[in-house]
Parts: sequence; structure tokens; C-alpha cells
Amino acid sequence: MAMTQTELLHELEPVVAGELDRHNAMAKEWFPHEYIPWSEGRDFDGVYGGEAWQDGDSKLPEAARVSLIVNLLTEDNLPSYHHEIATTFGRDGAWGTWVHRWTAEEGRHGVAIRDYLTVTRAVDPVALERARMAHMEAGFATEYGTMLQQLAYVSFQELATRIAHRNTGRASGDEGCERLLARIAADENLHMLFYRNLLKAAFELDPNQTMRAVTDVVKTFQMPGSTIEGFTRKAMIIAHEGIYDLRLHLDDVLMPVLKQWAVFDKTGLDAGGEQAREELAAFLAKTETTAARFVERRAERKARAATR
Ligand SMILES: [Fe+2]
Ligand SMILES: [Fe+2]
Repeated sequence: MAMTQTELLHELEPVVAGELDRHNAMAKEWFPHEYIPWSEGRDFDGVYGGEAWQDGDSKLPEAARVSLIVNLLTEDNLPSYHHEIATTFGRDGAWGTWVHRWTAEEGRHGVAIRDYLTVTRAVDPVALERARMAHMEAGFATEYGTMLQQLAYVSFQELATRIAHRNTGRASGDEGCERLLARIAADENLHMLFYRNLLKAAFELDPNQTMRAVTDVVKTFQMPGSTIEGFTRKAMIIAHEGIYDLRLHLDDVLMPVLKQWAVFDKTGLDAGGEQAREELAAFLAKTETTAARFVERRAERKARAATR
């Protein structure tokens, strides 16, 4: 019989406690202010009567700028994410300790990226602030109703965020930006490990229900920033540049995590579990075709642009 959510939360609590210990032993303390080139900063217009931001101020390529904005606005919506996980995982015991620790670590990311972008004049600060207001006012609500679905979602999402930060840093062509985003990506990797290990334990407790949750999430996965204004266009620019695209999503996010959970080696699933796994396999095969086609078309687009 399927375990209830309350039973799962209870059974997983010792795993959370163990993962917390592992996380705290691995996580290195770091300071956002050390990653910002403050001497490059100068006053803006307004209160201090400096110079307003202009297009020519930014040294970064457009795709890196777009990606930094998407990544930052995504980090900015932390209050909504905290609400979602605190509601599901609770704020007590080991679960609560993790929820607060995770929130504190994530809070650092938005602070550091915003300082960097403002000091180096990498993006228009007025447009950025308006976008932040619009994005946060809309809030974020998870579309996943169960704890297992949410655990599956964050396992993939933390890894997706890690890759997006890391590749944005590379695309920036800016040593300082790359260093900061690599530092943030290391945090995201530890977050991914935490959730991935937790879901692995859930597979032991209730393999059929967990398989169903994983399949549902893989089939409907959307980045948390997908509600950002103009996201579709921004995502296309990001994908064109190879910062984050379907190929990376499949090869560097979905497959490694699914492999860690050994989803295709599990034995003894019931009919529901088998059905979920078959759906997952079919979806991955379809995604492979779409990803391959995307890469081909992108190469053609780039070749055409090069001859122009
Ligand atoms: Fe983050
Ligand atoms: Fe994270």
C-alpha cells in the first residue's frame, strides 16, 4: 500500500538529519562582498547626481546579460520558494533546520549577483528593478501537490540552476563574473545532492509512488523562472548560446539524476510503478529526438549567420 505523506515525512526525517550533517561538513563559508569589484563602481543619477546607466556601459555579451537577468530574477523569488517548501516539509525538526539553512544559502545568491551587476553596470538597473517587482509580485506557486513530486522537482531544478549559472559565467567572458557564478553553482550542486539523496531514500521506502512522482515531474518540468516577463524569448536566446537548452537538460540534468536513482534497474515494481517507468522511458526517447533536432537547427542557424 502507498505510504501517506505524513508517513513519508516521518520516515525520511533521519535521512534529512544525516544529509544535513553531510551538507554542513561539505559547505564552505563564503562572502559575497569578496566577489564584487567595488572599485569599478561609480554613482548613478538620482540622489548622488552621477551618470544614468547607458547601453554602452555593459561589457557583457547580450546572451550572458539576458541569462544573468533570468538567473537573478529566479533567485529573487526566494520568499515564494521558502513558502512552498516550508509548507510541505514543515519548519520543525531536521526538515525545518534544512528549510532555513537552504533559504539562508539561497539568499546569498541574489544579493551577490545583484551587487555584481550593479557595480559593473552590466545591466540596466532600472529595468532590472522593475522586472524584479513584477516577477515577485506575481509570486511563484509549485504545480506539484505532493512531497515526492516536490523532491523530484528540486533535485532536477537545483542541478539545472547549477548548469545555468556555470554556463552563464562562461558565456560572460568576464573573469570576475565567471568566478562568482562558479561559486554559486557549487552551492547549487550541494543542494542538488541533498534532494537527490533524499529522493533516493524515498525510492527505498515506496518505489512505486516515487517512480510515479518522478515521471510526472520529468514530463512537466519547467524552470522556476518561466513566469518572468518575456521568458520564451529570453529562453530562446539562452538556448541559442548553449547556456541552457534541451540537449543540456536531457544530458546534464535529467539523465545523471535518473541514473543515480537507478530508475531503469529497479526490480519488483507493481503494475502502477512499471507503467510510470514506461511512460518515463517513452518521454525520454521523444525528448532525445527533439533535442537532436534542436541542435541540428541551431547549427544551421549559426552557419547561416556566419555567412551573412
Ligand atoms: Fe540559488
Ligand atoms: Fe540552490
